[in-house]
Order: sequence, then structure tokens, then C-alpha cells
Amino acid sequence: MRKIGILTGGGDCPGLNAVIRGVVQKCLLHDIQVYGFRKGWLGALTGDGDDLTLDMVEDIHTLGGTILESSRTNIMKVEDGPEKVRKVMEQLGLEGIIAVGGDDTLGVANKLQKMGMNMIGVPKTIDNDLSCTDYTFGFDTATNIAADAIDRLHTTARSHSRCFVVEVMGRHTGWIAIQAGMAAGAHMILIPEFPKSMDDVIAVIEDRKNRGKNHSIICVAEGFELTGEKIESIETDDFGNVRLEKKEIGPRIAKLIEERTGIITRSTVLGHLIRGGTPTAFDRVLGTKLGVKAAELVINNAYGCMVALQGNAIVPVDLEMAVTTQKRVDAEFYQHAGYFFG
Ligand code: F6P
Repeated sequence: MRKIGILTGGGDCPGLNAVIRGVVQKCLLHDIQVYGFRKGWLGALTGDGDDLTLDMVEDIHTLGGTILESSRTNIMKVEDGPEKVRKVMEQLGLEGIIAVGGDDTLGVANKLQKMGMNMIGVPKTIDNDLSCTDYTFGFDTATNIAADAIDRLHTTARSHSRCFVVEVMGRHTGWIAIQAGMAAGAHMILIPEFPKSMDDVIAVIEDRKNRGKNHSIICVAEGFELTGEKIESIETDDFGNVRLEKKEIGPRIAKLIEERTGIITRSTVLGHLIRGGTPTAFDRVLGTKLGVKAAELVINNAYGCMVALQGNAIVPVDLEMAVTTQKRVDAEFYQHAGYFFG
């Protein structure tokens, strides 16, 4: 019987279980056994995991998180990491691995593919910053939760004539901030792609004040930096990613607004709230389609690819291409959002 491994790495994301279910269901139809590694690449290093049955994946597409659990283990930093994975694959009789993850997890998959191990990537991140795919699952759920939170902050901000700074995830890019901020009518959106100064922020708030609007909502992506300000953070994860929550960009901007305008300003950091919980219908369906497509690539021995959403189609793209560049918010989208600032 043919056998394939699957793992989920990096930050968890609503829709992961839909992918797992899609892979298992489709593979078992073709008599391909699926071995689920526990805790991402950590499981692939040690072989920790289980054969996945239909019973184990029944109805899991409606659940958040990942039944396989996740980690940010970087096997490239472990002595003989890739060789250890190769041995585990041989011992378990796996012909390849489906890696479900963001740029870090898929970057590792790409390196292993180049070392002769069969890999298929499935793009996952609430940040939506992976290239070659129009959307990543989890993004829709995250933005809906963030938009709902901003809607709620509007009413309390108005009632108290206050400013609110809402910080959302988005390490390198501002997809969540611009999508949620635009949907919920934030008065300014601050994202890493388009730096702004504190003067720019104050100008929007003062302009609103002059028009008799004493409340304002600023939506900021956690990776945003004020122009002229560079705060170094010492803490990084296994992949060298800075612990952004330590930078506290939202609370810092809130403090500066209050100091400079005298308007009482509060900050709300949504953090992991937007990453947890049940996926939207869109993310359940996207995850399922990506999982089924990944299984089809296994069936056809088409390794070295990532499955991607392009338009309405799920297509295979070169894994290398997918992990080398980042998808960033374009100038036109930011300009359009900017028409509603103030
Ligand atoms: O997975 C991406 C992400 O959600 C980023 O938006 C965020 O910066 C990071 O994960 C948070 O990582 P952790 O869950 O390890 O704190």
C-alpha cells in the first residue's frame, strides 16, 4: 500500500483540519495510507504520529486549530535534521510528505525537496502573505473576527468620544489590517508596506476633531513601524522571526495619540483571538479543496509543488516559486483604502 505523511507547522490557522480531512478522505479512496506527524517538523524528526483513519477525520473541518498540533521547529537548525527526516520517512515507508504551513514550514519543505525527498506544500497563514496563491485559508476567518471587533469598538468609541487603536496580526504584511479595517470603516489603517509618521496619524485625528468627530479608530498591523522609529527586539523564534507582541506598536501609538491630542485613547490588541476558533464557510471549503488537490498530486506522483488558489481554480505551482517572494498589499489597494481615512 502506498503511504504519505502530512504535518501542520507554524502558527495554527482556521481551516487546517479541513485540509487534513480532504487529504485523508481522497487518499484513502485511492488506497493511499496517510500518516499524521504530530507537532509539525518536530514529529517528522522523531516519527511521532499516527496513521489517520476516516473515523479520526470525520467532521473535523468545522473545528479550529489542528488535530495534528503544530510547532515552529526548524529542522535546519537541528544537527543532521534533514537526514533524520529522511530516515523517519524510510522507516515509516513514506513516499513523501504534505507540509501544510506558511513561508517557514514550506521553506523547509522546499529545501528537503531539493535534497531528494518528495514534498507537496499547502499554503497556510492567516497573514495571507504567501505568493502564487490569491488567498490562504484562515485569512477570511481572521478578518471577519477582526472586522467584528472593530465594529464593536466603533460604538464604545463614539459613546465616549475616545480614540481606539486596534492592533491585529500581520508580521510582514498588512492584509488583515487593510481587509478588516476597510470592512469595518477604520479611520486610518497602518501597515508595514506603507510607512507613516506619528504626524500623519495625528493629522487624521485632528481633522476629524475639526469636523466635530471626536472619536477615531486606527487599525494597525503588528509589523508596522512608524517612520523614523526602529525598535530592536531581542527575542526571536526558531526561524529568526521577531516576537512582535513585544514591540507593542498598538499600545505605543495609543499613548502618543493621547499625549499629543489630549483625547482619551485606548488600545486593543486582538492577537491570537483572530487565529483561534471555528473557520468560516469560505475557509472550510478552501481548506478542503486544497487538501483534495494535494492528495491528487500524490496520486499522480507530482511532487515539488504547492497547491494554490488562482481565481476560482486550485492549481499546482512550483514550490520554490511560492516560497521565494512575499505577497504584499499593493499601492492601489492602499490608495483605495486611503480614500476613506479621516
Ligand atoms: O502564523 C502567523 C502569525 O499568526 C503572525 O501573524 C504572528 O506574528 C505570529 O504568527 C504569532 O506567532 P506565535 O503564535 O508564535 O506567537
